[in-house]
Amino acid sequence: MPDGDSEVISETNSAKMNLRNRKSWQILSCAAVFAYSTLLVYQTFSGGAPAQEVLAEVKLSAKTYRLERNLAEDRSSVENDIHELTSEVVPTTATVKPPLTTLDDVFISVKTTKNYHTKRLPIILKTWFQLARKQIWFFTDTDDREFQTKTNGHMINTNCSSSHSRKALCCKMSVEFDTFLKTDKKWFCHFDDDNYVNVPRLVRFLGDYNFRDEWYLGKPSIQAPLEIIKKEKKVLKKIKFWFATGGAGFCLSRALALRMMPVASEGRFISTGERIRLPDDVTMGYIIEHLLKQPLTVVDQFHSHLEPMKFIRRDTIEDQISFSYAKSKDEWNVVKIDGFDESEDQYRFLSLHCFLFPYFSFCPGRR
Ligand SMILES: *[C@@H]1O[C@H](CO)[C@@H](O)[C@H](O)[C@H]1NC(C)=O
Repeated sequence: MPDGDSEVISETNSAKMNLRNRKSWQILSCAAVFAYSTLLVYQTFSGGAPAQEVLAEVKLSAKTYRLERNLAEDRSSVENDIHELTSEVVPTTATVKPPLTTLDDVFISVKTTKNYHTKRLPIILKTWFQLARKQIWFFTDTDDREFQTKTNGHMINTNCSSSHSRKALCCKMSVEFDTFLKTDKKWFCHFDDDNYVNVPRLVRFLGDYNFRDEWYLGKPSIQAPLEIIKKEKKVLKKIKFWFATGGAGFCLSRALALRMMPVASEGRFISTGERIRLPDDVTMGYIIEHLLKQPLTVVDQFHSHLEPMKFIRRDTIEDQISFSYAKSKDEWNVVKIDGFDESEDQYRFLSLHCFLFPYFSFCPGRR
């Protein structure tokens, strides 16, 4: 017994046209819709001919086709028509995707200081450093043969002061920036030595952006742009800008870094920082947002210890790029995740790492 659908089809068949022609007409309609939507895209990007006019043409030619075409016309000629209808506009949408980004396109700097080498570097070396041994560089303020060996020569003595002063911090950022410029990498990403970085996620994330465009990617830790009063030509001026918190990590595209050179390269980052008397990450925001007028793109997946780590939901952990930890008063601000005992994994980085990359040798129950 035929069901309703096939009844309709057979009715249509006998009354109007055979199935083959129906299909042809369907294909053509699709082509018209496709051509129209492509034209809309085309118009949006190029300011081309008014889409309404072009649509009328597409409709007209479809109608003409329907009336005049011999019903026995074969499928390949329909496809030819589809090609003719669309070939002119299709190529205009083909260049939107950014170039492929791989791990080797990224320069990853980690800021540290001599007193934190033994305290903070071992867990990084055990976990996320292993995912990018050639791309990660540590910027510190002393020579340390032990860690120079452990990092395969990836410790850079900046010769900056080991104090936590503004000048010392800007000094390190300045060396990080200059070191990046000397490479041929497409992206500069800065992190701190209390960060855990999900390296493959970072690379995938950067893949959505084009390094030939100017990108300042990071996360602010304040709710409103920073306001400072600055003396410009003997007049006090209020200026406002956003900055990406250094402790959450941030990335700059090469195109942006190149445009920053007159105010940030070869030590000029330090003098710029001195002029506004603000820390390294604020100076970065000042240069990019205020001087170069390139706005920060907020990336929620970066996390500094200034935000409560426990609010990162377990089911979104794989999507996050950076994590951190801190102890304030008697409470640890750490990622909430099962795994190793707290006595073994106070910062939760081992547990985090095994959650993300369970094949590591130290992970329990690895396959
Ligand atoms: C730090 O000083 C040493 C010795 O003078 C020098 O070889 C090295 O290049 C300096 N490092 C940087 C990053 O300038």
